[in-house]
Amino acid sequence: MIDVEKIRNDFPMFANNPGLIYFDSAATSLKPQCVIDAVTRFYTHHTSNVHRGDYDIAALNDRLYDGCRKKVAGFINCDPEEVIYTHNISHSLNQVSLGLAHTLKQGDVVLTSMAEHASDLLPWFALARDHGIRIEYVPTDSQANISVSDFEKAMHEGVRIVALAHVTNVLGSVNPIKEIAEIAHRYGAIVVVDGAQAVPHMKVDVKDLDVDFYGFSAHKMCGPGGVGVLYGKKQLLNDLVPVFEGGDMNARFNKDGEVIYKNPPVRFEAGTPNIEGIIGMGAAIDYLMSIGMDEIEAYEKQLRAYFVEKMKQLDNIELLNPDNASGPITFNAKGVFAQDAAGYLASQNIAVRSGNHCAKILHEITGTDQSIRASLYFYNTKEEVDRFVKAAAEISLENAVGIFF
Ligand code: ALA
Repeated sequence: MIDVEKIRNDFPMFANNPGLIYFDSAATSLKPQCVIDAVTRFYTHHTSNVHRGDYDIAALNDRLYDGCRKKVAGFINCDPEEVIYTHNISHSLNQVSLGLAHTLKQGDVVLTSMAEHASDLLPWFALARDHGIRIEYVPTDSQANISVSDFEKAMHEGVRIVALAHVTNVLGSVNPIKEIAEIAHRYGAIVVVDGAQAVPHMKVDVKDLDVDFYGFSAHKMCGPGGVGVLYGKKQLLNDLVPVFEGGDMNARFNKDGEVIYKNPPVRFEAGTPNIEGIIGMGAAIDYLMSIGMDEIEAYEKQLRAYFVEKMKQLDNIELLNPDNASGPITFNAKGVFAQDAAGYLASQNIAVRSGNHCAKILHEITGTDQSIRASLYFYNTKEEVDRFVKAAAEISLENAVGIFF
């Protein structure tokens, strides 16, 4: 059971911003003190590079840095050698798209959906532009849900890559990834999953899902910015070409430009990494696991259901995803530009995101290119939802426009 008042004490942002309702965790989550301390300790007590120093502090950082791979592996159920550190989910998905480009030929298809974030479309659009691959879209319902049967109908021999979010970032639809992977593999396609909005909120088991690549960002799951993960099935990593070349990732090279790479995952980690960020991600994983991912998921679902029922009672609000069980609550205030409505909420000390949320073709599904997104995490409360709903009821053309900071 989540003890939310106790949990809130772990997050200094609450004490430092009295009265702030932070409903923008899908953009980035708040950070608990233990993560802040882990990063700070690196700067104050044990700064060094990794994989390069022969002294005690450097050895400590090697242990912490590579030890974090074991934490990630335990968190998503894979082997530590299958955990590649990246800078964020965009980096993870670019590593897959560019790293697999040499395996694709003109006319090969990447199958995705119009509900995807830019991070899971633009890397594939670049392959379409530069390598002549084709993009196809799986149909969804109006709340961005993909049915297994629609996915099956959309699959064909030409599809070489299936690229989908586990949970979409605007409407919070949960894709049936396990079933999708099973069908895609029957056609020999590779399944690449954007898990940025899933991993912070639910237990993810990449082996059970049987996906080929799965990426996420630490900053959305209580960790520091500038750190991401790419999980890749061991047998696929040898065919993946590194996107960046440079320090640490090579075993040796000669003056003729012949390079022997290190084995995965270090092969994909060129240059000095974000060591403190990775140590901080390890602290975030420990923290989330001490609370329990099942507990987090159950608490958030309950809070979301309460939120949706309250919002449904407001005449001035149109909900875009009332039937989805998880993810953000996304809506418009009738007749009010989303950014103006978000400005009114900001005047009430409420943080939300407005606009298209980087999902710039989602309007093909929803019919609107703007919305307000209230995204919850396990540190949010029913009292905050009540205050939010009261403020949402007040959004109108009269009071929403002209909020200045
Ligand atoms: N991907 C983040 C979001 O959805 C930034 O807001």
